[in-house]
Amino acid sequence: MRPFTVSMNLDNINFNGNHIVRRYEDIKSIFKSTDISLEGKNPVIYEVFESPVPEQQGHLIFLVTILYPGKVNEEFFMTKGHYHTVENTAEVYLGIKGKGLILCQTKSGDFEVAEISENRVVYIPPFWAHRAVNIFDEPLIFFGIYPAHAGHDYETIAQSGFVKRVFSKNGRVVIE
Ligand code: F6R
Ligand code: ZN
Repeated sequence: MRPFTVSMNLDNINFNGNHIVRRYEDIKSIFKSTDISLEGKNPVIYEVFESPVPEQQGHLIFLVTILYPGKVNEEFFMTKGHYHTVENTAEVYLGIKGKGLILCQTKSGDFEVAEISENRVVYIPPFWAHRAVNIFDEPLIFFGIYPAHAGHDYETIAQSGFVKRVFSKNGRVVIE
């Protein structure tokens, strides 16, 4: 592979790699309850633009995630969340726009909440699952980099979830 550059212009982002779009109907099971007001609209909850890099050890995948503002009933829009399949792999997120929380947890029950916002860097160590939550009324946009061979284990989170959820209650952000 040869060195390359891509544009970070957020008005027209395209890294020429995978473009993942997740709508409400695709991921509604991750939320505590279903929301009839979203059933017909089926809004895009988030999208991810990845770099065109082989999923091989030695490479790094970089990406931009755009997590739209909104709620499923009182629960803020969020990503599915995952462990890396190769658990001993870390990840770095750099906040570009908006405000959010990165929920992190380990299989032994440790839990941590990291704030993400413009110019804030979040380091997700090896073995920590991670899920982004948009707690603001604008898109949460962050850049990320992780080892290309890491892979994504969504199944563990689908089965046991995160230990905490993030809600909007009376205009306040509540983690419970
Ligand atoms: C990659 C990574 C991010 C997420 C993205 C969407 O390891 O952490 O690129 O993949 O923010 O979240 P998920 O993958 O949990 O749907
Ligand atoms: Zn990850």
